[in-house]
Amino acid sequence: MSAAATLQALHTEEGRRNPYPHYAALHATGPVAPLTGHYAAVVHGYDAVSRVLRDPAFRVLDAEKLGSQLPGWDEHPSLTVLMNSMMFINGEQHARLRRLITREFTARRVASLTYTVTQQVEHLLDRLAEHGGEVDFIKEFAYPLPSNVIGELLGVPVEDRPWFQPHVSAIGAVLDAGGENKFAVADKAATELSAYFTELVRQRRKEPRDDLVTVLSAAGEDDAPLTHEELLSALVLVFNAGFETTTHLLGNGLEVLLRHPDAAQRLREQPELAASYVEEFLRLESPAQLTTRWTAVDTEIDGVGVAAGSSVLVLLGAANRDPARFTDPDSFRPERLDNAHLTFSAGAHFCPGALLTITEAQIAFPRLLARFPGLALAGEPAYRAQLTLRGHTRLPVTVA
Ligand code: HEM
Repeated sequence: MSAAATLQALHTEEGRRNPYPHYAALHATGPVAPLTGHYAAVVHGYDAVSRVLRDPAFRVLDAEKLGSQLPGWDEHPSLTVLMNSMMFINGEQHARLRRLITREFTARRVASLTYTVTQQVEHLLDRLAEHGGEVDFIKEFAYPLPSNVIGELLGVPVEDRPWFQPHVSAIGAVLDAGGENKFAVADKAATELSAYFTELVRQRRKEPRDDLVTVLSAAGEDDAPLTHEELLSALVLVFNAGFETTTHLLGNGLEVLLRHPDAAQRLREQPELAASYVEEFLRLESPAQLTTRWTAVDTEIDGVGVAAGSSVLVLLGAANRDPARFTDPDSFRPERLDNAHLTFSAGAHFCPGALLTITEAQIAFPRLLARFPGLALAGEPAYRAQLTLRGHTRLPVTVA
């Protein structure tokens, strides 16, 4: 089967549900395959993916590229919010924003959140225990944990979170496929959030706290300070990037554990193995299966030409299962050494939230197993129909 036909199969419902046989078919064709149409190539071999992510000639989608695809995009407040964030900026401007924002993602801040994570985990486990019987793990645990942790990190008051979360998600959803109406909802959300953050920033400047809203609104001692727009974009980005990704790490990891009862029992008995289990969940069932890059100059990847102005599809999830890099790549082997997956990307845009999400998962899994010795699947899970963010819409489990 050609790479183009394999990609078509990957975009069917069945392909999104189980992309792995299609990744194996792509690996059989080599590390990169040329395409015609929206993407000039698909990059799936581990070394090729790693190189593209680290090569500054390959840029993330930015205002310049979006302008060529969607003239007038900057009339949409939702798109302006997204495109002002470091995830959609390249080069020097990206480096400045990233320096200002990620110095606040230090090990010290994550360590100070460890207590919050532990407290939240215990609180959610208590609720699961009270509920008993069959529960949807996604709704009852995997959504609230990261949402509350990010809420704490940013400094969004608890009472505002039920309003805040759907507003931020509406902005993120604007990049998904969908009708014109998505702009109406997302633009309204962006305008309302901007007003909300203006007020929150004003309060924090008056009464500083140990949260991201406070520190970012003061950021810029050595560099030019963040503008109001950059600050708003940073806060929306951190919430969007850090919330559902972690939800699906928890869901995907739990399904793997429940389908491997011996391995689950080993982790229950030896919670100190959590670090290597979490790395293997991240490699095997990455919540982020793909990203894209574009180039402004004629270039090539492993001999496949990519013309100036074209985009390439970068399959992180396929790189993680490249048989040339990982022995027996489709098997769950938590004892793997040298498990350097590409789930958090690589190079200039490497995920700054990796330590936080890993911390959440390393605390949550052993506690779940310890609390519920009879934890088991209670039916067939239901899955999201997307590869950008791969995970469950429902994961029924029995808590006992
Ligand atoms: C399992 C959880 C997570 C996964 C799989 C994940 C994955 C990723 C990936 C693949 C990228 C880079 C995309 C690219 O190179 O095109 C990225 C960037 C980013 N992530 Fe994460 N992420 C996770 C959790 C988090 C958390 C918890 C936060 C924040 C608290 C966060 C904040 C960010 C930010 C701000 C960026 C943009 C970095 C830049 O553009 O320089 N992520 N993430």
